[in-house]
Amino acid sequence: MQLHVVSHPLVEHKLTVLRDKNTPSNIFRELVSELVTLEAYEATRDLIVEDHDIETPVAKMTGKKLIKPAPMVVPILRAGLGMLDGMTRLLPTAEVGFLGMKRDEDTLDIITYANRLPEDLTGRQCFLLDPMLATGGTLVAAIHYLAERGARSITAIDIIAAPEGLERLKKEVREDIDFTVVVAAVDEKLNEKAYIVPGLGDAGDRLYGVID
Ligand code: URA
Repeated sequence: MQLHVVSHPLVEHKLTVLRDKNTPSNIFRELVSELVTLEAYEATRDLIVEDHDIETPVAKMTGKKLIKPAPMVVPILRAGLGMLDGMTRLLPTAEVGFLGMKRDEDTLDIITYANRLPEDLTGRQCFLLDPMLATGGTLVAAIHYLAERGARSITAIDIIAAPEGLERLKKEVREDIDFTVVVAAVDEKLNEKAYIVPGLGDAGDRLYGVID
């Protein structure tokens, strides 16, 4: 596993406003989107390109274009959806699949409740979107899900990670999977309810409101 913590003054500033409990949902959503775009610049560094011949108004030249099949962006519902437009702004030719996974708050087990993805992901560079890498359980399950369908490489873009979650990924993700995590910050720890400390609270609730 490779870990990349994006270090940039704009990321630090936006993240601080995002964490603030007084930041309202509309601003929170905008900030998530902006942070993802900044992270996506780093996360897409290894996208594969190939030569492409064009003619400028002045001369012929060989430039570069992303190879096909197009990258696959997979937000993990519900909170990952808030990251989608920030990602596709930078990568408009990506295809989008959806994975609905949630944590059972009593057992902390991961339940897959929705899946809209091609069965065959052979050769695809995949980007998983999930704002909070807490216990890492959802992400381990999602990574294996994509790898079993043939994904060539998998990059998880999260906003905040807990050290416990990163440790779990290192231990539990199969070693043959080409896997990178990109985050804006690694926080201190998880609390007894598996929330990231200091974190930002429940990302899904802050994006979309509380569902009981
Ligand atoms: N999910 C969240 O939304 N927040 C946390 O702190 C942990 C998991």
